[in-house]
Amino acid sequence: MKCRVCKAPAVIDVRRHNAAFCPDHFVTHCRDQVRRAIHDHDMMNPEDRVVVAVSGGKDSLALWDLLVDLGYHPDGVYLGLGIGDYSDDSADHARAYATEHDVTLHEIDLATEQGFTIPAAAAATHRAPCGACGLSKRHLLNRFALDHGYDTVATGHNLDDEAAVLLGNVLRWDTDYLARQHPVLPSAPGFARRIKPLVRLGERESAAYCVIRGIDYQVDECPMAAGNRHLYYKDVLNTLEQRSPGTKAAFLHGFLDHAHDRFTDHPDGDDPSAQLGRCAECGAPTTTEVCAFCRLQVRAAPRP
Ligand code: FES
Ligand code: ZN
Ligand code: ZN
Repeated sequence: MKCRVCKAPAVIDVRRHNAAFCPDHFVTHCRDQVRRAIHDHDMMNPEDRVVVAVSGGKDSLALWDLLVDLGYHPDGVYLGLGIGDYSDDSADHARAYATEHDVTLHEIDLATEQGFTIPAAAAATHRAPCGACGLSKRHLLNRFALDHGYDTVATGHNLDDEAAVLLGNVLRWDTDYLARQHPVLPSAPGFARRIKPLVRLGERESAAYCVIRGIDYQVDECPMAAGNRHLYYKDVLNTLEQRSPGTKAAFLHGFLDHAHDRFTDHPDGDDPSAQLGRCAECGAPTTTEVCAFCRLQVRAAPRP
């Protein structure tokens, strides 16, 4: 196996591109994919104030590293979810990266700042933990960005994640979610812009990128995610990809290029958040009197 660019021995093949790369050219490949995603979806400008949602895993650390290399100046924010050793270990990886690369990492702690953890929320709601987890991440990272003057929150969702979410949304024809499934969710009153610059990179690539760049990341998967439907959808897509490399990318990018628009009711420029009210507790945009996060907090946080 030889590098497509320089013919030196390759260390990784990327079958959907029908290519293999040496370490240096693999890093170039990753940068090119992220640069292209940012450009194609008009995600941000170099002067934007961007904060990366850093979990300590391969995707978010690769994203942070790639954005800095591409000339952006993102800070990072780590949200402690209170998932035992897994969270402690994840935080250590995020902090180590920040120290080693001399970049700014902010930290939010669910237990001390909001009075509950994800395991407590799962127990209180009798629901899968990932629901409370996703809701808390979206809410708190958005609030953090708004409170600290960041224009944009960048997350490490990769091609595999997005294709699995798309498969789930298509299987249920969840048209609201399909309308919102996009690598850029523009800012609106009460919402910072959200972007996913890794949509053109698979998780195998973000892991290899970290290894080649010497980035030490949390290798364990979240212990609370076992049984999560998305993991099953990922397996299904991996089986298809094995038989026919490029399937995942064609599925996701075909949707974004040809179908996504058909699910959005409002023409470009129309602001869907205009009809939203404000949460009586925290002021976040919501369709109900009290937002979903504040309702979760009431159920999950032990009362004094
Ligand atoms: Fe959210 Fe595991 S990281 S439930
Ligand atoms: Zn090469
Ligand atoms: Zn609220």
